[in-house]
Amino acid sequence: LSKRLANKITSHQPSIRVIYGDLSQLPNKVRHFVEEHVKLCKPDTIHICDGSERENDLLLYVLQRDGMIKRVPKFENCWLSRTDPADVARVERLTYIATEIQRDTVPTPKHGAKCQLGNWMCTEDMDHELNMRFPNCMKGRTMFVIPFSMGPVGSPLSKIGVQLTDSAYVVVSMRIMTRIGDKVLEALGDNAFVKCVHSVGRPLPTTATLQNNWPCDPKMIMVAHLPERNEICSYGSGYGGNSLLGKKCLALRLGSILGHREGWLAEHMLILGVENTLTGEKRYIAAAFPSACGKTNMAMMKPTLPHIKVTCVGDDIAWMRFDSEGRLRAINPENGFFGVAPGTSSKTNFFAMQMIQHNTIFTNVAQTSDGGVFWEGLEDEIEPGVKITSWLGDDDWNKDSRQRKAAHPNSRFCTPATQCPILDPAWEDPSIFADARPFAMRPFFGYNFGEYLHHWLSFGKDAKNKLPKIFHVNWFRKDKNGKFLKNKNLENENIDMEALFNVPLDFWENEVNAIYKYFDEQVNEDLPKAIMQELKALEARVVSY
Ligand code: PEP
Ligand code: NA
Ligand code: MN
Repeated sequence: LSKRLANKITSHQPSIRVIYGDLSQLPNKVRHFVEEHVKLCKPDTIHICDGSERENDLLLYVLQRDGMIKRVPKFENCWLSRTDPADVARVERLTYIATEIQRDTVPTPKHGAKCQLGNWMCTEDMDHELNMRFPNCMKGRTMFVIPFSMGPVGSPLSKIGVQLTDSAYVVVSMRIMTRIGDKVLEALGDNAFVKCVHSVGRPLPTTATLQNNWPCDPKMIMVAHLPERNEICSYGSGYGGNSLLGKKCLALRLGSILGHREGWLAEHMLILGVENTLTGEKRYIAAAFPSACGKTNMAMMKPTLPHIKVTCVGDDIAWMRFDSEGRLRAINPENGFFGVAPGTSSKTNFFAMQMIQHNTIFTNVAQTSDGGVFWEGLEDEIEPGVKITSWLGDDDWNKDSRQRKAAHPNSRFCTPATQCPILDPAWEDPSIFADARPFAMRPFFGYNFGEYLHHWLSFGKDAKNKLPKIFHVNWFRKDKNGKFLKNKNLENENIDMEALFNVPLDFWENEVNAIYKYFDEQVNEDLPKAIMQELKALEARVVSY
């Protein structure tokens, strides 16, 4: 909390009602953090999360009562939530990193170009923005206190945060996506933690009616990272990456800053194991792809090749560091999957389809009249005669008319990692080591992208480091008929190998020019010289090709 916000707090406060847990049992630093924000946000009551089954049942009951979730009766302990249609995804343009000095956070774009590598705000302006949002924002609501660990509780690589939130949906989701509760407080003791404050921004009583009983304030959304205070403040959205602050905000944005400081990497990558069951040889791969490109499907791949076994470690985030012998080790700091539902089917992700039939929270998917769920991609997997109600509640939704999507394109399933049938036995082991495909961090940089490139390059300068093999893939390439080149079965003779391995010269000429332009406009003075040399070498190869 800034001095400015602290000054806003009136000193005389009625005592606050704790309806779950015991404030006096909290470590001093946590208690102080809670008390300060109770005074600022003025919730009616406090609930200190212990992470128990009993607590989860209680919250699911409350969420049902408030019309925020309903049962998916076809499955076991599965729930459907529909959001306000104005609150359906991460909001990149309202996501900020606030520091004293701009260049710490983003490169300075050339001649007035808009920076595409993060949104910076100075700390003072950010305090002003926060001050317009957080005072009294939890009136009439319960403030939940969620102690959470990214990475296994007590593991040397793990980071602990405490999230305050006025959303029970966030609590039940954080319980799936992270490790929460008493065991985290025990591991924390009186050490420092990442301070996370989240509010849906709808103090009670509300004036306007809610959409789908989903409280939010889309016009006032702001997701703020304050690395110099070890704080994350998110306002106005209850959705995914905006509200489950352990994921994108802590594990990627603040994580990348910690990694830079402490000599490791926080990356937007899946991690999977590949084993040859004949030889017993096993490798791990960390792979970077932007959002909604199929990381979850790849992480749970069902190989068509015999003797090849794939195991899943994580589908979204990797924390990686070189150990004392110079081997690259990786962990998945998450505890669950927050996967994009559309496109998931028995064909594209056989194991996910099994995994989501228990203990899963679905958000913004469609429902079927036989008590199940539906989204684009499941057309061949619903019983004949079954009727579909779209995510917007349109119960005449007809797949033949296809005027509107049945499920929102960013609709999700939220499922505990341990339910993945091919979860790697060593998924919580910090000694997994990985080959890599780099860079899908653009929406998640916590600090200057030029500095991030320097940080990557620095690992190559340490002679003891055994650098991972790095691969580049593009399975979105299409043939001249617009069909994907990639084939289901690599032994299929119909593959157009020539097209698949073709290196189109005009493409690479354009690519080189586009990269020059991008580096010049976006990274400018902060581009490492070594990267420019690589680009020049690439250009020379293209010219002489
Ligand atoms: C989200 O949209 O809430 C989210 C978590 O983003 P991503 O698709 O990058 O996982
Ligand atoms: Na997204
Ligand atoms: Mn992601």
